[in-house]
Amino acid sequence: MTVPQFPRDFLFGTATSAYQIEGGWNVDGRRPSIWDTYTHASPRRDTGDMACNTYHDFQTDINLMSVLGLNSYRFSVAWPRVLPEGRGQVNAKGLDYYDRLVDALLVKNIRPFVTLFHWDMPQALQDAFGGFAGRETASYFADYAEVVVRRLGDRVKDWITLNEPWEHAALGHLLGEHAPAHHNPWTYLKVAHHQLLGHGLAVERIRAACPDARVGITLSLTPILPKTDSPQDVAAAKVADQFFNTFYLDGIYKGQYPDPFWSQVRWLHPHIGADDMQVISRPLDFLGVNFYSREYARAVWWMPFLRFWVDGDLSASGEKVVNGMPFTASGREVYPQGLYDLLMYLKREYNNPFLYLTENGAAFTDHLDGERVHDEKRVAYLQGYMDAAAHAVRDGANLHGYFIWSLTDNFEWSLGYGTRFGIVYVDYVTQRRYVKDSGLWVKEMICGQTG
Ligand code: FCB
Repeated sequence: MTVPQFPRDFLFGTATSAYQIEGGWNVDGRRPSIWDTYTHASPRRDTGDMACNTYHDFQTDINLMSVLGLNSYRFSVAWPRVLPEGRGQVNAKGLDYYDRLVDALLVKNIRPFVTLFHWDMPQALQDAFGGFAGRETASYFADYAEVVVRRLGDRVKDWITLNEPWEHAALGHLLGEHAPAHHNPWTYLKVAHHQLLGHGLAVERIRAACPDARVGITLSLTPILPKTDSPQDVAAAKVADQFFNTFYLDGIYKGQYPDPFWSQVRWLHPHIGADDMQVISRPLDFLGVNFYSREYARAVWWMPFLRFWVDGDLSASGEKVVNGMPFTASGREVYPQGLYDLLMYLKREYNNPFLYLTENGAAFTDHLDGERVHDEKRVAYLQGYMDAAAHAVRDGANLHGYFIWSLTDNFEWSLGYGTRFGIVYVDYVTQRRYVKDSGLWVKEMICGQTG
């Protein structure tokens, strides 16, 4: 095996999020998030009630990280654990949990990267303001960020405000596939703008509470290609790219939302305060990039305002080969070249920002074979994407770390537990962990670094 080579101080980690792994949804003062409400609403849905049980045992997974040689870990804090009503009274037991988790990571020399919002909006703020649909929630988010940073900032220096604001806004408020399962284009844009506003307000509060903090945001970036060469599809792909990607990138790096997308949706614009774009575009220490695959856009007449549709993601249609390209079990095309292209695009178009790949990984159908899981497709996937990342670094991309989604199998949102992304297999009945072949490959890859 030739392992991809990275610079000496490169970070190798895995990423998780609170609702997907913690369980303990109603203990020690935690109140519901919108994901508890959503999953409990239908008996057919998997829930995060137990998940990977890390609220009651994180040490097992930290030991595994250490055995695999990982030197960093990205996890998220559950807002409703720390502030059960989303604002006001702080829940000491909730903060204590993250305090212990951070200490346990540091004992093993694993550098913590903390995400403050990974979609688990406190239900109380959803009820009071519609979550981020309300402008007030941006301020409450900044208050919450300060509470967490005051407690952990002496030991945690790497802070990520939001995870994938597009997904929370679009899947949750426009397409209805995620909590709170709304279908409202007006709400979509409010949630998108107010998340970014909350991000900007939080950046300032994090820096004030922890002067040596390094602050960033995590965006999912999805290259959009036109479905055909027709001028209509080419124009549709441009708007789609602005909807998915540059709305967020330009808001943050240029302090403006991109046209023609922004003028096409002018009837839906939320109130933009005089200082909002300046707050949103405060300088950051790094950009977190989540990269999985690409999408194809085509022009359609029936899509209000946007006038495009995308087909790349075959949404949970399972593993298959289309046009010679393999697809993962969550319906995503395996497309490592896209990672190289994306990193070089950010170098070219956004002034080579300091980057971490904060998520990349794949779901495949895994089988436990004795104590082993022979997930050779995931090994090939990781090898391909890591080769692409290493190539981009050699060509000048400012990439400093790679966080695999995910350490263990976990609750994959609306796809539930059947969709496994881990490099460690979880038996959900016993909560036992089994390192998959991909986990062993990661260990060898890290050991094989010669830099
Ligand atoms: C990302 C999410 C993460 C996980 C992966 C597979 O969009 O940030 O929580 O579900 O996809």
